[in-house]
Amino acid sequence: MRKSWSISLVTASLVAAGVLPVSPAVAAPPGATLAAAAERGGRYFGAGVQSYKLADPAYTAILDREFAVVTPENEMKLDATEPVRGRFSFGPADRIVAHAEQRGMRVRGHTLLWHSAQPSWLAALQGTALRDAMLNHVTQVAAHFRGRVQAWDVVNEAFADGTSGARRDSNFQRTGDDWIEAAFRAARAADPDAKLCYNDYNIENRAHAKTQAVHRMVRDFRQRGVPIDCVGLQSHFTATHPVPADFEATLRDFADLGVEVQLTELDVEGSGATQAEDYRRVVRACLAVDRCTGITVWGVRDSDSWRSSATPLLFDANGVKKPAYTAVLDTLNRGPCR
Ligand code: G3I
Repeated sequence: MRKSWSISLVTASLVAAGVLPVSPAVAAPPGATLAAAAERGGRYFGAGVQSYKLADPAYTAILDREFAVVTPENEMKLDATEPVRGRFSFGPADRIVAHAEQRGMRVRGHTLLWHSAQPSWLAALQGTALRDAMLNHVTQVAAHFRGRVQAWDVVNEAFADGTSGARRDSNFQRTGDDWIEAAFRAARAADPDAKLCYNDYNIENRAHAKTQAVHRMVRDFRQRGVPIDCVGLQSHFTATHPVPADFEATLRDFADLGVEVQLTELDVEGSGATQAEDYRRVVRACLAVDRCTGITVWGVRDSDSWRSSATPLLFDANGVKKPAYTAVLDTLNRGPCR
């Protein structure tokens, strides 16, 4: 298995030399922040971020205090980074990466290939032309962020919902079943050090066909030496898709394949004590599985969420800590229940 999750060698040496600060969130007194509490258990705690919100001091005050890892919610997606074929645009993404690096934070890249958020020129291609453009995109974007992104969601949401266990029908899938393998090999060639993740939603219940299908792919990749280091479970929980009772078992199933598991877009619809208990159960499941290396919540405040009306995050719209925050901090500080 590749090195355990760690800041890049460059960042680590700059931190050691006192050039780069250790993330304030991590350097805080043990247990005082989400990141510091997670760090005590050898995990990271991060947040999905949006570049335009970095101009909001109320937003960055929480982000910089509480989180050690950032994931651009949209700024590294296909439409943002290659809006015109062959012309790459990294400004907003670079702003997020610079913000993180100046504070000793790490970066998850999201996402090199996805059936959604595609620029129109890409969506219009098919066959060999699409396959070539897809792999060039992976290569160019991964190369641009080499040494600055510690883990990539190389492919996002490639499996169908429901009971089929089939691949999702998409333009990428129609270039041939091997598109996912090709993407991971191209990402590894462009960045030998980044952890390469497959990321998806609704794979939190081990019995579901989609979960089993992803598990089969990852097992096949590991057996054939296809470069894959982690599985990202987005972990968007709602009343109709609650935290499974056997969530820990799902994480362990993937971890037993020899890959890390990362909770990459955690949010839990609800409020009050019920929401707090759901978050507690999720964190406990991650802490119980050694290869669960970190948790990212998908936004900072409820008002920053893609589904703000569900009030799914740890801070309310005014940036006030919710009971869910306290439950997460407390559970992280207790550490793994041995
Ligand atoms: O930037 C444009 C802006 O110029 C325009 O005025 C505005 C209105 O059209 O749209 C803005 O783009 C929006 C973008 O978020 C940035 O705010 C897109 O329309 C909107 O579709 C996009 O939504 C994002 C969504 O992915 C689709 O890419 C959400 O913020 C983001 O949280 C969500 O995240 C996804 C993960 O990437 C994958 N897993 C599921 C998760 C939730 O859908």
